[in-house]
Amino acid sequence: MSGQSFVRLEEIHQNEFIKAAIDRVGAGVVITDPEQEDNPMIYCNKGFQELTGYESDEILGQNCRFLQGDDTSQSQVERIRDGLKNFQSVQIEIKNYRKDGSMFWNELQIFPVFIEQMEQTYFVGVQKDVSQRRQQEELIGHYLSEVKRLSTPIVPVEDNISVLPLVGTIDDERLQQMLDAVSHHVKETKEDYLIMDMSAVHSYNEAVHMGIYQMNQLLDLMGTTLVITGINPTFAIQSAPYADFSELSLQTYASVKQALQFIQKENI
Ligand SMILES: Cc1cc2nc3c(=O)[nH]c(=O)nc-3n(C[C@H](O)[C@H](O)[C@H](O)COP(=O)(O)O)c2cc1C
Repeated sequence: MSGQSFVRLEEIHQNEFIKAAIDRVGAGVVITDPEQEDNPMIYCNKGFQELTGYESDEILGQNCRFLQGDDTSQSQVERIRDGLKNFQSVQIEIKNYRKDGSMFWNELQIFPVFIEQMEQTYFVGVQKDVSQRRQQEELIGHYLSEVKRLSTPIVPVEDNISVLPLVGTIDDERLQQMLDAVSHHVKETKEDYLIMDMSAVHSYNEAVHMGIYQMNQLLDLMGTTLVITGINPTFAIQSAPYADFSELSLQTYASVKQALQFIQKENI
């Protein structure tokens, strides 16, 4: 579009326009002056006042740390301090508190801006309330850990025996979860036997096969005996293409009940 003429915004009006525009962005914007004692805030937009509940007169001249509270992570504060010391940009999510004491998660961006006319670097901070997203993430995290826990339900049946009933489809990710959960469990309980029941597994695939193999290795190291139950004839046929288990001398039984009876007899 070169050559097209247009009328520029008059310089005297520019500041007013920019100020009004910054007031309308859906975030807090502050400017601090690091040449002054304790890097005080010298400007804040309307968004910052709405976010924090403070009027500008109450807070201008203060360092922004007044938004922090007892529960604010000190390692996050240290990260900001280190960034500012080296005049580097910082992006962080930090717990802050409004004037009424309520907490919010602040997605904070800070960057240095050099202003030529003043021959000085200032810091600009942009604050966004991301509490809702954090809450959703925490909720999802909670549900995911519940799902994980339920997908590896280790049931202690006697002092020295637990049963791990496998249900549904086993893939590499679930196999890893199982190995993690079992190693934690056995480390704590130091059980003699772990019965892995396969009767509710949908199909015998490589992950199931590796599951048995790796579980046996893991438990062997921990001094616990792995017992497999519920392998039906179809599984036995499906397992043919995979590595031979015969050298593992695994104890296998048709059902958990049968395995328990045998273990009890063996330990009399
Ligand atoms: C431009 C700018 C904006 C800032 N905004 C916030 C903020 O919104 N919330 C916060 O907890 N800290 C904020 N800080 C960080 C604190 O002012 C302070 O730098 C930090 O607490 C580390 O320093 P201190 O250890 O001296 O407290 C901001 C810093 C700057 C330079």
